[in-house]
Amino acid sequence: MIEIENLSVKYGNNIALENINLKLEHPSLLVIMGPNGAGKTTLLKSLLGLVEYEGKIRIFGKKPEEARDMIGYMPQRDRVNTNIPLRVKDVVLMPLLSKYYFGIRLQDVKNAKKALKRVNMLHYWDKNFSALSGGEQQRVFLARVLAQNSKVLILDEPFSATDVATKMKMAKILHILKRDKTIIIVTHDVNPLVECTDKILLLRKRIIAYGTVPEVLREENMERLYGVRVPIIRRENVCYVVGGDVHLRH
Ligand SMILES: Nc1ncnc2c1ncn2[C@@H]1O[C@H](COP(=O)(O)OP(=O)(O)OP(=O)(O)O)[C@@H](O)[C@H]1O
Ligand SMILES: [Mg+2]
Repeated sequence: MIEIENLSVKYGNNIALENINLKLEHPSLLVIMGPNGAGKTTLLKSLLGLVEYEGKIRIFGKKPEEARDMIGYMPQRDRVNTNIPLRVKDVVLMPLLSKYYFGIRLQDVKNAKKALKRVNMLHYWDKNFSALSGGEQQRVFLARVLAQNSKVLILDEPFSATDVATKMKMAKILHILKRDKTIIIVTHDVNPLVECTDKILLLRKRIIAYGTVPEVLREENMERLYGVRVPIIRRENVCYVVGGDVHLRH
């Protein structure tokens, strides 16, 4: 279970997050949406203890810096140097390595292979990571998180650069995983996830809305979030967002 109380983050004089309060049950899947610069990545980094914050965060009762071992983190693609001279297997095995002082265990290799197979990338095991396409690299990054078998997954724009089939495949994997994990996903494209999302958070420095998909995905909320009209299509109990990205004006 994740609890956030009165969370605020500043970078110098720039307020990135203001008075965030939320509770998330375990297991569940939370989607965070908001315009560029809304503080989405900052919120994830607060949960990981990677930024200084005011307020209280508890992850299964622990502070972020003590909960790090429970969390698998997939950073936002444009913040990662993908020119690293590593092979695919190294990228996936790296977080497993750091857990032990005596090197790789056979079980780690098995977990890494299983995770790559799940995202259809096992045949690239020995390939140079930097030679892969953007979407292929995203799949390897997802496999890297899956191989850690963490209780909590934090994924920052996992679908970026992926084609529609890969998005659907990733969403299916996440749907299965959320049976016994808490998954937090920042995305500009909620549509592949609407059927497995338990809660949505609309964020624009402050919380614009927080609740279930039918409660939150409403045109008036989207307009408050993005400052423009974003049509929503409702079909039975599912909603889909029609529209692209908007940049937050300061
Ligand atoms: N390390 C940093 N130093 C100073 N300012 C920062 C830093 N990281 C983020 N910011 C600022 O904080 C605000 C929120 O940034 P953040 O990266 O959390 O936004 P985001 O919602 O993830 O946006 P995007 O959709 O573009 O990824 C922005 O105004 C950004 O310029
Ligand atoms: Mg971001």
